[in-house]
Amino acid sequence: VVHQRFSVGFEYPVVFAADTFAPASETLAEVLEGREPGAAATRRALLVLDAGLVAAWPELPARAEAWFASRAPRVTLAGVPLVIPGGEAAKNDPAVVARLHAAFHAAHLDRHSFVVIAGGGAVLDAAGYAAATTHRGVRTVRLPSTVLAQADSGVGVKNGVNAFAAKNFVGTFVPPFAVIVDGRFLECLPRRDRIAGVAEAVKVALIRDAPFFARIEAAATALAAGDLQALGPTIRRSAELHLAHIATSGDPFELGSARPLDFGHWAAHKLETMTGHELRHGEAVALGILIDSAYAAETGLLGASDRRRIAALLAALGLPRWHAALGSRDAAGEPLVFRGIEDFREHLGGTLTVTLVDRVGHGLEVHALDRAALMRALAVVKAEAETEAAAGAGFGTP
Ligand SMILES: NC(=O)c1ccc[n+]([C@@H]2O[C@H](COP(=O)([O-])OP(=O)(O)OC[C@H]3O[C@@H](n4cnc5c(N)ncnc54)[C@H](O)[C@@H]3O)[C@@H](O)[C@H]2O)c1
Ligand SMILES: [Zn+2]
Repeated sequence: VVHQRFSVGFEYPVVFAADTFAPASETLAEVLEGREPGAAATRRALLVLDAGLVAAWPELPARAEAWFASRAPRVTLAGVPLVIPGGEAAKNDPAVVARLHAAFHAAHLDRHSFVVIAGGGAVLDAAGYAAATTHRGVRTVRLPSTVLAQADSGVGVKNGVNAFAAKNFVGTFVPPFAVIVDGRFLECLPRRDRIAGVAEAVKVALIRDAPFFARIEAAATALAAGDLQALGPTIRRSAELHLAHIATSGDPFELGSARPLDFGHWAAHKLETMTGHELRHGEAVALGILIDSAYAAETGLLGASDRRRIAALLAALGLPRWHAALGSRDAAGEPLVFRGIEDFREHLGGTLTVTLVDRVGHGLEVHALDRAALMRALAVVKAEAETEAAAGAGFGTP
């Protein structure tokens, strides 16, 4: 037996910036050149843009092209910007990845070229996957353009697309070359998406950082209004916690059975599929957090006052408290959402490992979920949402 062994170190900068394609902004040029000053004189990049982002900001493609044109020959565009469908359509339609591969081929991208992707988490996932599988990995620079992608998915190491009605069935773990978190993109983001992304900040605060949870509570009214000043520090702290997890958990590529940051996600992933992605990922996560914290309270892990505090914050943020899909049952009367538990186990492999919280700021892992307690948790969430609806607060889908 020859024991082969080597390790590969990864590093990438996550730059917090404002208005990357402003004529005077040097951020992207510095990022493209930063890690190997003095190497190839020209950096070639192909730009992939989220169609939803472009629809909300029609001047963006021309603005980005002008930025590149003014930086030639230091950095140049390898082709016209590609605009791909935004949202889950990018991950559901295999033609999107095929089109990207064809465009990367036509543009003669090599392993030293860059794919610069500006978009929501779905576009980053799909285009990141296409780049990762081109020449076994073309460098990517991510410009996440939603709160969710800036606070969570866009700063990490995963990409992927959906297949066989399963989320992220096809995908890879590949760290980006760099990430630029640019608040300018959020100016055209609708309030619904600004709020949805905050659910991931609440999630990571709940399992890792009680003072951060308290800061989100203090800013809840401004966050619910979609206030960009309040979103800035919330996004930054959430991104830092997600990055710290990848760097220090000892399992950046998720080889174990646990995924500690996926609190609330077994239900969330199922709800997204069940609703045909009518629910945003962040909205589904908010519902997943409600169910899992009610479950933790039902099983005596979490105190009743902490459970109420969590539900109150999600309500104050304007996140959904219930969805009709949570009421769907199979012929045997089993809530369909419970199928998300086995899907979750299968996606990760090994033993079922679900993260719960036993107090605000602290997560813990369990390896089984009790069905009767889950049924009670669902009933608690429903009753609370109905009480609020009767009192005039929102009920159901936003
Ligand atoms: N790779 C990971 O680690 C990871 C982690 C969590 C979530 N995700 C994935 O991220 C996706 C969700 O991402 P998301 O919440 O960013 O939503 P999204 O990508 O679905 O985007 C939501 C909508 O906003 C539009 N949009 C994007 N930026 C905009 C802007 N600035 N202004 C106006 N409209 C804009 C999009 O076109 C889309 O219609 C899911 O597919 C989820 O599975 C990936
Ligand atoms: Zn998530």
